[in-house]
Amino acid sequence: MSNRTIALDEPLYRYLLAHSLRESDTLRRLREQTMGHEWARMQIAPEQGQFMALLAEMIGARRMLEIGTFTGYSALWLASALPPDGTLICCDISEEWTAIGRPYWEQAGVAERIDLRIAPAMETLGQLLDAGGAHSFDLAFVDADKENYLGYYERCLQLLRRGGLVLFDNTLWDGAVADPRRQDTETQAIRELNENLHADSRIGLSLVPIGDGLTIARKR
Ligand SMILES: C[S@@+](CC[C@H](N)C(=O)[O-])C[C@H]1O[C@@H](n2cnc3c(N)ncnc32)[C@H](O)[C@@H]1O
Repeated sequence: MSNRTIALDEPLYRYLLAHSLRESDTLRRLREQTMGHEWARMQIAPEQGQFMALLAEMIGARRMLEIGTFTGYSALWLASALPPDGTLICCDISEEWTAIGRPYWEQAGVAERIDLRIAPAMETLGQLLDAGGAHSFDLAFVDADKENYLGYYERCLQLLRRGGLVLFDNTLWDGAVADPRRQDTETQAIRELNENLHADSRIGLSLVPIGDGLTIARKR
């Protein structure tokens, strides 16, 4: 036993899922349908979806943002954590991929809470700020093009209320962040984000080794 995070081999991961995952039938069917997609690896892990939904419940989130929706699995977890009159604004550039999720959002009874905006997320965030949306959101989940993560961060910080959370996906990037041989632009962008967040006194911070690494930044 050591005092560092435990490594999960396959049996232990199965145990974790068997003893904690509460994935609805609708969530499971959407996840399984997406597993057949050529970009299936972009979908978050089920235990991460549940963790983010719990975070949203813990802070009483009513207004949330998602940057990078793909087939809508993470959006379904987040929307399910909202009260009936809550809102999740989803930003994506693909009509085709996000259309896969909509029937599942409807089956789960949360479609009314999801406001999908098909446009580059930077534009949508700018419009929300121009419309007076600063300080009005409780949580933002960032899971889109890595090169824009720092730009999304600054805009999300403005949009969040004090005590609100920005969650960043892929902050361990399959281990590449710690591998000096990896110098591609996406890896460098995530390293830059991680370094900036670590040094940023405007937020409370934790990089949680769930999924591909999930960083939680709490606006002070
Ligand atoms: C990693 S996937 C999101 C996965 C999703 N959160 C899930 O768990 O299923 C990234 C998504 O970001 C979208 N995306 C890429 N660049 C974007 C941009 N500039 N603005 C908005 N969305 C973008 C892609 O179309 C893709 O659907």
